Amino acid sequence: MQQRLQKILAKAGIASRRKAEELIKEGKVRVDGKVVTEMGTKVDPDAQDIECDGIHVAAREKKIYILLHKPAGFLSTVDDPQGRPIVTDLLPQVKERVYPVGRLDLDTEGALLLSNDGELAQKILHPSHEVNKTYVAKVKGKPNTKKLAALSRGITLEGRKTWPADIEVLQTEPQATTIKIIIHEGRKRQVRKMFDAVGHPVLQLKRTAYGQLELGDLRPGKYRFLSPEDIKMIFRK
Ligand code: URA
Repeated sequence: MQQRLQKILAKAGIASRRKAEELIKEGKVRVDGKVVTEMGTKVDPDAQDIECDGIHVAAREKKIYILLHKPAGFLSTVDDPQGRPIVTDLLPQVKERVYPVGRLDLDTEGALLLSNDGELAQKILHPSHEVNKTYVAKVKGKPNTKKLAALSRGITLEGRKTWPADIEVLQTEPQATTIKIIIHEGRKRQVRKMFDAVGHPVLQLKRTAYGQLELGDLRPGKYRFLSPEDIKMIFRK
């Protein structure tokens, strides 16, 4: 069956639909060996050969979903020109080209989803679906209740207020406090910036869940394949 080229690329997990459109415009996509730059070109993925950046797109590739416990020190990317450790180094047996769904900072550990299902990835990342992300942050010092209330209500970061967050103090030590924080936005280094803004920098950060899908006792560097039931848990509050 014929489908729009950008849709095929997105479905194959190559890129989001918007990014796929850019790749097409940039002349990086070939159909049966010929560069196609016209948007909306219809192609039959079962009968035609599609290449993106020189890689053959297996349009009917099985969709897989992985939950990885990313250790600190690994980049959430599939390629690093500087040759630093990347998350896909931890999946040597996975043959499919999977991509991280969102990102964790180099120095953050915890739950990271990887998939070749570009459409599901977009759905998880789009703020309209409000997928909750739970983090456990160890922060310097002891934020007072006023500061915690401000973080929970929303604070202004780079000119934009953060959405309300759920905050719970889990443990206090003389020099540090461990706090659970649930947010559904995904701004870059958001949790770190939020605590920086109230004067309590993050010392350690771990993402423990997407929605109701918990990292559980998965050890750092280990992963598991997700079932359709697990995927539903991602969208549960
Ligand atoms: N917030 C951060 O500051 N870092 C992450 O990796 C994720 C959320």
